[in-house]
Order: sequence, then C-alpha cells, then structure tokens
Amino acid sequence: MLVKTEVVRLRSLERLRKNPKLIKKIFTKKELKYALGKRFPDQPLAARLAAKNAFLAVLGKKNVRSVAPTDIEIINDRYGKPHLNWRGMARVAAKKLGVCGSAVSLTHAENYAAASVFIQFARPA
Ligand SMILES: CC(C)(COP(=O)(O)OP(=O)(O)OC[C@H]1O[C@@H](n2cnc3c(N)ncnc32)[C@H](O)[C@@H]1OP(=O)(O)O)[C@@H](O)C(=O)NCCC(=O)NCCS
Repeated sequence: MLVKTEVVRLRSLERLRKNPKLIKKIFTKKELKYALGKRFPDQPLAARLAAKNAFLAVLGKKNVRSVAPTDIEIINDRYGKPHLNWRGMARVAAKKLGVCGSAVSLTHAENYAAASVFIQFARPA
C-alpha cells in the first residue's frame, strides 16, 4: 500500500477561483456542485485539490503523465465519507499499475485543508 498526504492553503483557492476556466480543468461538475453547496466552498475545494495532488504524487509523475485532474474525482457517500472515483486516464493507469483499492481522508480548518490518499496494489509496490 502507498500513502501520501498533501496540504493546501485556502488562500490558493481564492486565487484559483478568479480563473473559472482553470477551476473547470481541475474540479469535476460534481465536485463543484458539492463544494458550492457548502458554507465555505474554498474548504472542500482545497481539500479536493490536496487529494488530487496526493493522488498524482503517490502514483508518480511518469505513471500519471496523461491523467487530468478531473480524471480523479472525490465524491462523498450518504454518510459524508469521501471516495476516489477513478475516471478516464486515471482508470487506465490504475489498471496498468494493478491498483485494487483506494481510500481518501479529507480535513479542513480555517487556513488549510489536507488530504491523505491510500492506494492498494494487487502485487507489492
Ligand atoms: C467525519 C467527521 C469526524 C468529520 O469531522 P470534522 O471535524 O467535522 O471535519 P473535518 O474538517 O476534520 O473533515 C471534514 C471532512 O470529513 C470527511 N467526512 C465526513 N464524514 C465522514 C465519514 N463518515 N467518514 C470519513 N470521513 C468523513 C469529509 O470528506 C469532510 O470534508 P468534505 O465535506 O470537504 O468532503 C464528522 O463528520 C463525524 O463525526 N461524522 C460521523 C461519523 C460516524 O458516525 N461514524 C460512525 C462510524 S461507526
């Protein structure tokens, strides 16, 4: 199993949100809908950005070269628990690397958000 934790400053979201084109390149429609429904949207957005960064870091740049940020989507189940939804090229990379399971944990506070991503492989990584 591989694990990676990343932290994102909420302030970086303020800057990102000024660029709607870029926001749509990073977050999926579902992620934006979820975050914009919250009182402080920058918190869930920053946590999801941290999760995407952790995901890319844990798998390694060369393995995820063609994976777009929106190919890895963080969705919450009915209990509020977040899950990684592998889409597009992320799904292709997962198959190639022998990924057999994943988990994500998010947290956010006043100025920071963080995410830990856990990835399980069918064979030792
Ligand atoms: C999970 C929980 C601890 C969140 O703690 P918090 O201090 O309020 O908030 P944090 O900032 O640390 O974390 C928020 C993140 O927790 C995550 N979260 C929410 N519910 C969760 C759950 N059931 N399991 C895991 N993670 C959860 C979400 O990803 C959320 O971020 P998001 O809305 O951007 O997706 C809180 O919602 C809780 O107590 N839930 C009930 C858990 C429960 O009933 N467990 C019983 C198991 S037997």
